[in-house]
Amino acid sequence: MPDKLKQLADLRSQRWLAPDDMRSFAHRQRLQQMGLRREEFMTRPVIGIVNTWSDLSPCHAHMRERAEAVKRGILMAGGMPFELPAMSLGEVMVKPTTMIYRNLLAIETEELLRSLPIDGAVLMGGCDKTTPGLLMGALSADLPCIFVPAGPMLSDRHRGQVVGAGTHTKKFWDEYVAGNLEQPEWISLEARMTRAPGTCNTMGTASTMTSIVEAMGFTLPGATSIPAMDSAHTRMCSASGERIVGMVWEDLKPSRFFIRAAVENGIVAYMALGGSTNAAIHTIAIAGRGNVDLTLDEIARVGANIPVLADVFPSGARLMEDFYYAGGLPALLSELKPRLSLDCMSVNGKTLGDNLAAFEAGQRPQNEDAIRPLNNPVTEGAALGVLRGNLAPSGAVIKPSAASPHLLKHRGRALVFDSIAEMNAQIHAPDLDVDADTVLVLRGGGPIGAPGMPEWGNLPIPKKLLAAGVRDMLRISDARMSGTHYGTCVLHVAPEAAAGGPLALIRTGDIIELDVEAGRLDVLLSVEELASRRESWRAPPKARQRGYIRLYVDHVTQADKGCDFDFLAGFEEPVEPPIF
Ligand code: FES
Repeated sequence: MPDKLKQLADLRSQRWLAPDDMRSFAHRQRLQQMGLRREEFMTRPVIGIVNTWSDLSPCHAHMRERAEAVKRGILMAGGMPFELPAMSLGEVMVKPTTMIYRNLLAIETEELLRSLPIDGAVLMGGCDKTTPGLLMGALSADLPCIFVPAGPMLSDRHRGQVVGAGTHTKKFWDEYVAGNLEQPEWISLEARMTRAPGTCNTMGTASTMTSIVEAMGFTLPGATSIPAMDSAHTRMCSASGERIVGMVWEDLKPSRFFIRAAVENGIVAYMALGGSTNAAIHTIAIAGRGNVDLTLDEIARVGANIPVLADVFPSGARLMEDFYYAGGLPALLSELKPRLSLDCMSVNGKTLGDNLAAFEAGQRPQNEDAIRPLNNPVTEGAALGVLRGNLAPSGAVIKPSAASPHLLKHRGRALVFDSIAEMNAQIHAPDLDVDADTVLVLRGGGPIGAPGMPEWGNLPIPKKLLAAGVRDMLRISDARMSGTHYGTCVLHVAPEAAAGGPLALIRTGDIIELDVEAGRLDVLLSVEELASRRESWRAPPKARQRGYIRLYVDHVTQADKGCDFDFLAGFEEPVEPPIF
C-alpha cells in the first residue's frame, strides 16, 4: 500500500473550507444550509460521485441506488460524499448519436471536478460513451479517481437459445426482413434480450471499455464483469467508495500511475476480449488525455499475436454472465501474464501482478468455455485489423474475429451511397444493381460529415440478397459500428469523406480491394485518376449547426486521433481555480 502522503491541510477542499475569511464562511454556511454539521465536512476528504444515472438511461437504471452504496463506503472510510449528476448517455436513446456527446461529458466531468471543492472522485458509468467520457475528463482534472462500472445485464433466452443485447437484435432483424420471422414473434422480442438494468451483455463497446479501463488499473480488480443485478455489484460499489478515501490520502492521482505500459495492458485485454472496434477510438482519446501518444499502428503492434480468448458474442457464443462465472477479467488477464506489464499500479494501491496473484491464490473458477486458455483460443486471428492504403491513408479498422473469413481478402465492385438517407432510400430496392460480391460503401458518416460518427457502418444487406441467403458482404464507411454487431465491415476510414479523404473520390463501379492480412484497403485507380477527381471535388456544404454541435464540428479530430477536441487532447498540469 502506498504511504499516506497528505495531511488535512493539504486537501484541495480545504482551500474552500478552511480559511477564516468571508468567502470560506459562505462555503461552510451553504453546506450547513443542507443540514450538514461542521464536523462532517471540515476534517474529511470531500468525494465527488460523478453519476451518469438518468430516467432515460436504461443501462444505468440501478445507478442511483448504487450511489448510496458508494456513499456508504466513503462514509465508512471517513470521507464525505457528494453526488454530482452528469450527462447520461444512454446509447440507444440519445440522438443523433452518443458519440457526439462523449466529449461534452468529458468536459463536464473535468469542469465539475475542477470547479468544486473535490478531493477525489468516483466515476459511475458503463454504457458505451460514459466510460471514456468520464475517464477523459478525470484524467484532465488529475484528481484521485476510481471507476465504478454499471455491470452487464442478466442473460436471456429465446426458444432455448441464449440471446444477447444488440447482437441478436441484428440477427433477428435480418431474418424478419428475409421473411423468416413472423411479425408477432418479432414484436414479442421487444421484451427480450435486455432482461434487466445493466450494460449490454455481449462484448460490445460497454464491456470492452470497462474491461480496458480495469486492465489500465482504474477499477477494483474484477469489478467490470460483475452483473449489474448481483449483490456483489452493490458490495463492489461500497468497496470502491471506501477505497477512494484512501487514494486521496495517498495522493494516488492518475498522473502517478497512468503510463504507456498501463495503456498497453488495456490493449492486450481489448484484443483477448475480441472487443469492439469503437474501443480503438476511445483508447486513443483516453491515452491522449494522459499524455500517452497512441496510434492505430501501436494498437496493432501491441495487439499482434494475441488471440481472442473470451468466448462472448459477437466474436464468440456466450454472454457476460458466463464470462463472470468463468472468473471475469482477472481470469482472462491471468492467461495473458507474459504479455502484460505486471508492475503497473492499480487504484487499490497494488500492482497488476499482485492483484492477479491474489486472484490465483483464491478459489479460481474454472470454465474453459467462456474464457479459453492460450492454447485453445476462440479465434487465432486478431480482434482488430488496422488497414491502410490509397483509400485510407490515415487508417481504417476491421474486426476480423466477427467477420466472414472468406471476405477478409476480397475484390469487388463498389456501390457507393453519399449519405445515410440515400442508402436507406435505395438499399432494399428490388432493382438495386448488387450481388454478394459487391462492396457497399457509405460516406458522410464520419466525425464531421454526419456529424458525430454514428454507428452506420454495419450497412444492411439488401433485402433481395437476404432472401437469397446472403448474410454478409464487404461494407466500407467512415462511420462506426455497434460493438455488439458483426460482419465484414471496414470502419473509421480516415480521413473521412467530408474532410476530403479519398473515400470522397470513389464512384460506383470502381474496384475495391481488401486484404486484411496485408493490412491493405485500396481502390484500383491510378494516382493520376485520383488526382483528377480531386481537382473537381468540392467539400459538401456544412449543415447549419449551432451551439455545442458547431463547436464539435469545428474542433473534432479524425478517428485515428481519437475524435477528441483539438483543444482538449494532451495533458497539462491542472490549474486550480482562484477562490474569490
Ligand atoms: Fe447501454 Fe449497450 S446500450 S451498454
